Amino acid sequence: MPHTIDLQEYNSKIKRVLITEEELKAAIKKAGPEIDRYFDGYPLLLVSILKGSFLFAADLCRELTVPCEIAFMCARSYYGNTSSTGTVNITMDIDQDLSRYNVVIVEDIVDSGRTLTAVVDLLKYRNPHSLHVVTLLDKPSRRVVDFKADISLFTIPDEFVIGYGFDGDKELYRNLPYIATSSAEE
Ligand code: IMP
Ligand code: MG
Repeated sequence: MPHTIDLQEYNSKIKRVLITEEELKAAIKKAGPEIDRYFDGYPLLLVSILKGSFLFAADLCRELTVPCEIAFMCARSYYGNTSSTGTVNITMDIDQDLSRYNVVIVEDIVDSGRTLTAVVDLLKYRNPHSLHVVTLLDKPSRRVVDFKADISLFTIPDEFVIGYGFDGDKELYRNLPYIATSSAEE
């Protein structure tokens, strides 16, 4: 089977721009100083949850003025028949001694809350000097597990979004510079 994509169909799945490039930039600029405050002599360790947060982490880390390292973790959610039976697998982990860091988890979105609950539980167990969570988007209406990020840049309605790190259909659309709603939900 040839791997071809119909450009018209590809473009038709981008429904409406929800957050513009300028709005993303402004919000991330504002979040920088808030995260700078977590520095207390120990460096920050930004833990970017892949793949969704790769652009957010890249832009956010350039707004920080305090000593900071970057690490990447890959978390995958698997769902059973009912929405309450999801489990989270860590498919790529970090190996830093977290007691030496103010850890900041950088996530793309809090949806059901399962991914971040699992990641926070795992990292807390490793004794970080401090632990905070920053998320670009929050969809509170979709929560299955009670979870609140320390810093959340945008609250959005229950709509499937693509772009700026978020994939919509078979890994496509992550490179859009803005966030859009989509009809491409898998
Ligand atoms: P959770 O349900 O809070 O565990 O989030 C699971 C993951 O689903 C997120 O980290 C995102 O990568 C992905 N996700 C949730 N909502 C959307 C969306 O609207 N578009 C693309 N990915 C999403
Ligand atoms: Mg994610």
